Amino acid sequence: MNYSRIAIIALGAAMTASLVAAPVDEKLVIDGELEMTTRAPSSDGHPLPEVISGWHYRTESTRALEADTFENPGMLGIEQGEEIWNTVEGSEGKSCASCHQDAADSMAGLGAIYPKWHEASGKPINIELQINACRVNNMGAEAYKFDKSGQKPLTAYIKHQSLGEPVKVNLEEGDMQAWWERGKEMYYKRTGQLNLSCASCHEKNNGKYIRADHLSQGNVNGFPTYRLKQGNLISLHNRFRGCIRDTRAEYPAAFSDDLMALEVYTTWRGQGLSVETPAVRQ
Ligand code: HEC
Ligand code: HEC
Repeated sequence: MNYSRIAIIALGAAMTASLVAAPVDEKLVIDGELEMTTRAPSSDGHPLPEVISGWHYRTESTRALEADTFENPGMLGIEQGEEIWNTVEGSEGKSCASCHQDAADSMAGLGAIYPKWHEASGKPINIELQINACRVNNMGAEAYKFDKSGQKPLTAYIKHQSLGEPVKVNLEEGDMQAWWERGKEMYYKRTGQLNLSCASCHEKNNGKYIRADHLSQGNVNGFPTYRLKQGNLISLHNRFRGCIRDTRAEYPAAFSDDLMALEVYTTWRGQGLSVETPAVRQ
C-alpha cells in the first residue's frame, strides 16, 4: 500500500463519519458597530469561489467572544502590546512611540498590507520582522526571539490598528511574485507520514470535521489569534508549524524562507477579508 492510500484512510478515519456542516450564515459586527468582511469574492486564480473567514466555522460561543471587545480574551494581549509600544528599551533610550507616536495614526492600515516587499533585505517582511528591524536598527535593542518577550502582543497591537480593513498583498513589488509561487508550491506539496498538503485539509475538505474541529479554509486574517485551547495569543508561524507537525512532517523554522513564502501565499488566498486581530479560535 502506498503512502497516499494510507493518508486517505487516515484522513477519512479522522473525519468523524464525514460530518459536513456549512459555515454559519451570520455577520460579524464588532461591538455592534464595526461590520467585518468575513466572506469575499476570491482573487483571480484562486481555486475556491469565495473566501470565508475561520470565524464562520467556530461555535456560537466562540463567535460571540470575538464580536465583543470586552469579552474577547485576546484584547488583554492588545493592552500589553500598547504598554510595550510606549516602553523605552535599548541603548538609544527610545520607545516605538518616540518615533511613531500614536499607533492609531501611524500604524493604521499597515497590518492589512503585510507581508510586503522589503528592498533592504531582498525578501518579504512581516510585522514580526519589521518590529525586530526597528528594535535593532532604531532602538539599539535586541531582536525578539520567535514568540518570545513582546513579539506576539506587539504584533497583535499593530495588526489591531487595521481591524476591519480588507487584507491586500502587493505582488507587483520586488520579487513578491516568485515568493508567491514558492508559497503555492509549499501549499500543495504533500508531506509527512500522512502525506497531506495544506490543500488536502483546507481546500478539499474545508467544511468537514476532523476529530472535533470544523475545518476552515485556513485563512490568516485573524493572526495573532487567541486560542481558547492554549489560553494565549498564537502567532501565524506557530500555527503553520502546528499544522505541518500534524501531518507528522518535520517543520521549517519560524521566519525561514519556506514559512515566509507560505505567509505571502496564504495571505493572498485570504485577500478581501477583514483583519480580525485578535480573532478568537478554538
Ligand atoms: C528611532 C526611530 C524609530 C524607533 C524607535 C522605531 N522605529 Fe519603526 N520605523 C522607523 C523608520 C525610520 C521606519 C521606516 C524605515 C524602515 O523600515 O526602517 C520605520 C518603520 C516601521 C514600520 C513599517 C512602516 C511601514 O510603512 O511599513 C513599522 C511597523 C515599525 N516601524 C514599527 C516599530 C515598532 C513596533 C517599534 C518599537 C519596537 C519601532 N518601530 C521603533 C523608525 C523608528
Ligand atoms: C490534517 C489537516 C490539516 C492540514 C494538512 C493542515 N491544517 Fe491547518 N488547520 C487544521 C485544523 C483542524 C485547524 C483548526 C480548524 C480550522 O480553522 O480549520 C487548522 C487551522 C489553520 C489555520 C487557522 C485558521 C484560522 O481561521 O485561524 C491556518 C492559518 C492554517 N490551518 C494553515 C495551514 C497551512 C498553511 C497548512 C499547510 C502547511 C495547513 N494548515 C495544513 C488542519 C490542517
